[in-house]
Amino acid sequence: MNRIQDTRQTPIEMTTAESPAIPKTDIRVRALAREDSIDALTSLLHRAYRAQVGMGLNPLAGRQPVDVTRRRATSGECFVACDGRGEMVGTVLLNEHEDARFPDLFLLPDVAHFSLLAVEPDLQGAGVGGLLLDAITERARRLGFARLACSMAEPDTQLGDFYLRRGYEIVEYWQWPYTNYRSAILCKAI
Ligand SMILES: CC(C)(COP(=O)(O)OP(=O)(O)OC[C@H]1O[C@@H](n2cnc3c(N)ncnc32)[C@H](O)[C@@H]1OP(=O)(O)O)[C@@H](O)C(=O)NCCC(=O)NCCS
Repeated sequence: MNRIQDTRQTPIEMTTAESPAIPKTDIRVRALAREDSIDALTSLLHRAYRAQVGMGLNPLAGRQPVDVTRRRATSGECFVACDGRGEMVGTVLLNEHEDARFPDLFLLPDVAHFSLLAVEPDLQGAGVGGLLLDAITERARRLGFARLACSMAEPDTQLGDFYLRRGYEIVEYWQWPYTNYRSAILCKAI
């Protein structure tokens, strides 16, 4: 059984004002709230992961039904990025609990991990993904973790470059039971 984090602690909030990378759009990162639409979150994930699906990959986030999004999002600390109108335009999940076996790295006590990082396709490249990573990095630090890890589709080399530019290193490779590709497990000191 994998570790479950306490999600009831005060969540971190971050706004564009704190992140110089974000520009024109007024984006705010906050914890997923009970009132947020899981349907909308699921649709956002499907849209964001469509490019990977177009590469012949089958990430769970690109096809999971609403009840799976709900189960996954509530198993860890889910954050959403919202635009000035309050619409969800991005998300990330810190310390998801899964029944599937975890890579060894995720089980180390000083390592937090994230999943479901996704940004609305029209807004990609504007810094929202960076803002979400900043928010969970800060949250993981506050929880006492020294490293942050994630799993990504190895064939998506552009995505790999995105992480390498942010200081992540590939530590191992992993085959999840529900994907048709090998994943790279990345990690960074925080
Ligand atoms: C990965 C992802 C979350 C990044 O979000 P983002 O908001 O585009 O991230 P940022 O804008 O902070 O950074 C994107 C980088 O690509 C560059 N970029 C330029 N044009 C871009 C475009 N049209 N689309 C995406 N990135 C672009 C940005 O300049 C930036 O470069 P940098 O790494 O030197 O900072 C987003 O692309 C996404 O949702 N991808 C699909 C889902 C996915 O693969 N998730 C990760 C699973 S492990």
